[in-house]
Amino acid sequence: MVKIEEMTFEDFEKIKAILTTEFDEFWTPSILKSELESKLSKYVVAKQDGNILGFAGVIMLPDDVEITNIVTKKTERKKGIGKLLLDKLIQIAFELEKDISLEVNEKNIPAINLYKNAGFKEVGIRKKYYNGSDNAIIMTKNFTI
Ligand SMILES: CC(C)(COP(=O)(O)OP(=O)(O)OC[C@H]1O[C@@H](n2cnc3c(N)ncnc32)[C@H](O)[C@@H]1OP(=O)(O)O)[C@@H](O)C(=O)NCCC(=O)NCCS
Repeated sequence: MVKIEEMTFEDFEKIKAILTTEFDEFWTPSILKSELESKLSKYVVAKQDGNILGFAGVIMLPDDVEITNIVTKKTERKKGIGKLLLDKLIQIAFELEKDISLEVNEKNIPAINLYKNAGFKEVGIRKKYYNGSDNAIIMTKNFTI
């Protein structure tokens, strides 16, 4: 059974060893470590028999909660892990009574579908946000309106 737990430094060490090979390479271990050390951030892992299958995190800002990362191990995708991680992030925002939002590359169809299925709505666009070419879609799930 897959369990969602708060990320520990022990989990971080496990992720660090496989981050660039078994996950996507858009984050370095040092960025993830500083996120984990920040009081404003909260990170969770999806674990099965001690193995980390995915992780995700948010930054808790005064006005809303923003998703900074959500990623499933390449070999474990399309099994519902992304949804479990996202549900946990939504719960964190709900308990803080804040809206939750994120930016996603307009070409990232798996992620956009994941968010839409969970009730996120497109609320804006940041033009040429990624690498000076791809647009970012801003998506939000409101609890406060
Ligand atoms: C986006 C990501 C986290 C989804 O994780 P996952 O564990 O495969 O997702 P799930 O199996 O829980 O799927 C949940 C929903 O996401 C959508 N989805 C996931 N993979 C998809 C794909 N390849 N194509 C289309 N939709 C997809 C579907 O709506 C799916 O629901 P369904 O199975 O009922 O159709 C994963 O693809 C990933 O790690 N991508 C790289 C990192 C990334 O881009 N993160 C987002 C940054 S904004």
